[in-house]
Amino acid sequence: MILVTGGAGFIGANFVLDWIAAEGTPVVNLDKLTYAGNPGNLASLTHDARHIFVKGDISDRTLVAKLLVQHQPEAIVHFAAESHVDRSIHGPGEFVQTNVVGTFNLLEEVRTYWATLAEPAKSGFRFLHVSTDEVYGSLEPTDPAFSETTPYAPNSPYAASKAASDHLVRAYHHTYGLPVVTTNCSNNYGPRQFPEKLIPLVILNALNGKPLPIYGDGKNVRDWLYVGDHCTGIRAALHKGRPGETYNIGGNSEKTNLEVVHAICCILDTLHPAGAPHAKLITFVKDRPGHDRRYAIDATKMKTELGWQPQEQFETGMNKTVDWYLNNGAWVRRVISGEYRRWMDLNYTTLR
Ligand code: NAD
Ligand code: TYD
Repeated sequence: MILVTGGAGFIGANFVLDWIAAEGTPVVNLDKLTYAGNPGNLASLTHDARHIFVKGDISDRTLVAKLLVQHQPEAIVHFAAESHVDRSIHGPGEFVQTNVVGTFNLLEEVRTYWATLAEPAKSGFRFLHVSTDEVYGSLEPTDPAFSETTPYAPNSPYAASKAASDHLVRAYHHTYGLPVVTTNCSNNYGPRQFPEKLIPLVILNALNGKPLPIYGDGKNVRDWLYVGDHCTGIRAALHKGRPGETYNIGGNSEKTNLEVVHAICCILDTLHPAGAPHAKLITFVKDRPGHDRRYAIDATKMKTELGWQPQEQFETGMNKTVDWYLNNGAWVRRVISGEYRRWMDLNYTTLR
């Protein structure tokens, strides 16, 4: 039995599905169901007794304590967070509340529970904290990729709140001995991602003949990690990672945003020729304030220590992703709710 937080979101849901398929042991899934949480992501597990869904907040310490005592998990995999940089610019308070205070509350209850465990459960227990490469700040074009020893330099309220949570997790190991492992991954893409993020936004806008908004000059660089590869990476870190260590998980796929958007347009030109060439929809818009120029991940430690490396190439992962959005119209229709439309109005009023 493991307890996952935020398992109705993009990566969490992919992880729960992957875990049950690959490991087969039960998962308690604690998720508040914010705008980003979508129970429809887990529809295929509706009648599967191995998935126990609990709607609740990681900051509800009474609830967390009860779940820990009731289910006696051997690990926590902590995904729950506010995750979108642009939203953190419009409203940072929620990010501090969930990512920092929420992680603190969760750590406190987990520490209390862990103290009650007897050996070997106690030393076998893991708190796996899912974090981001954004805590390392921005790279110049010729800088080496982020490694686990790169100093923290978060630039957005989102990145700062994740950095704060990473420091708390680290401190709980150093001070209390809690067996934690932290993973810092690059930008994920794949099925079930909420269309506020670049890749699903571009796919859905292109299908609907809407502008494809590119911030600034479109030359910002991200490393793209297919979500299925991220899930196997987390499982490797959970099973083989050393307590107190951090592991960088990347996709070996550095691309400018323009390259990403052109790749999506090319795939759609073949799979959905009606709107071709989709690249005619590309629209340069006002840049994001403080927009980090480049992220890149050196995942050597994952490879040498844990034997993990990504299986997906950018092209194969992107083909799978576009194909998934084309074939899951019902999921897309449910997600394009009032909340999503309000966000589009707030963030993209300055399309030029
Ligand atoms: P997401 O926004 O899609 O999902 C977050 C989930 O957490 C949602 O289901 C939401 O309902 C839930 N949640 C939010 N606040 C909660 C609370 N207080 N209590 C319980 N549940 C709560 O996020 P994602 O993209 O799946 O990211 C998951 C994790 O991975 C996050 O910690 C994020 O920082 C990290 N990460 C994401 C990416 C990426 O590219 N998406 C990259 C690096 C790291
Ligand atoms: P995003 O998916 O928001 O992830 P992050 O900011 O965490 O890296 O954005 C990925 C990149 O795409 C980032 O450089 C910002 C850019 N971007 C656009 O150019 N247009 C958009 O509409 C969005 C949402 C992002």
